[in-house]
Amino acid sequence: MKTNIKKIAVMTSGGDAPGMNAAIRAVVRTCAYYHIECIGVYRGYQGLIDADFKKMNARFVHHIIQKGGTILKSARSDEFRTIEGRKKAYKNLKEHNIDAMVLIGGDGTFTGGMVFNEEYDYPVIGIPGTIDNDIYGTNFTIGYDTALNTVIDAVDKIRDTASSHNRLFFVEVMGRDAGFIALNAGMGAGAEEILIPEEDMGLDRLLESLQRSKRSGKSSSLVIVSEGDKIGKNVFELADYVEENLPEYEVRVSVLGHMQRGGSPSCFDRVLASRLGVKAVELLLDGKLNVMVGLVNNIIETVPLEKAVKGKHDINKELLRMSDILSV
Ligand code: F6P
Repeated sequence: MKTNIKKIAVMTSGGDAPGMNAAIRAVVRTCAYYHIECIGVYRGYQGLIDADFKKMNARFVHHIIQKGGTILKSARSDEFRTIEGRKKAYKNLKEHNIDAMVLIGGDGTFTGGMVFNEEYDYPVIGIPGTIDNDIYGTNFTIGYDTALNTVIDAVDKIRDTASSHNRLFFVEVMGRDAGFIALNAGMGAGAEEILIPEEDMGLDRLLESLQRSKRSGKSSSLVIVSEGDKIGKNVFELADYVEENLPEYEVRVSVLGHMQRGGSPSCFDRVLASRLGVKAVELLLDGKLNVMVGLVNNIIETVPLEKAVKGKHDINKELLRMSDILSV
C-alpha cells in the first residue's frame, strides 16, 4: 500500500444499472479485506451534501450481488452543480475523515468527480455503471449486458404477436446519446431495421427497406429505435409516417422504457462489477487516483477520468451492415 488512505466512501449516481449492487459489495468487501473503513453514501452527490452516510462492513452487503437497482439509491443532484453544494460536500467528507471516494455511474457522475477533484484535490476513482455502454475506456459498462438481455426477451415476445397479426412494430429502447442497446439487441432479435443516434439512415431508405421486406413475404417486421435516434422524428411520429406512406402495413409502437434498467444482473455483469470493484479499491490504495477502471480486451485498465468523460466509445457500425444482409 502506497497511500495513507484509511477510510473510503462509495456511491452510486445517475441512472441506476443492474450490477451496481455487485460493485458496491466488491468495494465494501475489498475494503474489509485490506482493513479499510468503508462508508456508503446514499443518493449519490445529494447524499454527500446532506451527509447521508452509513458505515458498511462485509456482512452489510450480503445477498445483494443478485439484486437489481442500487441499495445506496441514486439521484441527479442540481445542488452539487453549484460551488456552495460542493463546498458542503467537501466539509462533510473532511468532518467524517473520509480520504477518498469510489464513484459508480456514468459520464455525469464522472464529470462531478472530476470537478470536485479539480477544486479540492480530492482523490476519486470511477467505476462505469450505466446500461447505455457509452463510456470511453471500457468495452462494457456494468448493466449493459443485463439490459440487452432484458430487451431481447421483450422483443422476442413482441415478435410473437407481430407475426400472428402480420404487423410492423416500432420498438423504442433506451440510449439517449448512444445506440449500443438498439444495435446489439436489434441484431440479436433479428430486427429488420435498426435506428441509432450515430447514423442518420434517412426516411427514404427506411421506407424502401420496409417495402422490400413486404415484397419478400415476411409475416412481420421489427424496427428497433434508439430513443436518441437522429432521424428527426420520435417513435410515434415515425410509425405515423410509415403508416401514411406504406398503407399496406398495420403499424404498432412499443416503448420499453425503464424496465430496461431493472432486474437481476446477468452473470457477466456480476463478474464485471466484482472485478472492477476490487481493482478500484486496490488502485486507490496504491495511489492511482482520478482514473476510471474499465475492461479492455478482458484486462482491467485505467483511463484518466477526464478521458472517460470526453472520449467517445465508438459503436461498431459493421453490425448495421451485417444486420442489413441478414434481414434480406
Ligand atoms: O441510464 C441511462 C438512461 O437509461 C438513458 O438511456 C435514458 O435516456 C435515461 O437514462 C433516462 O433516465 P431518467 O429517466 O432516470 O432520467
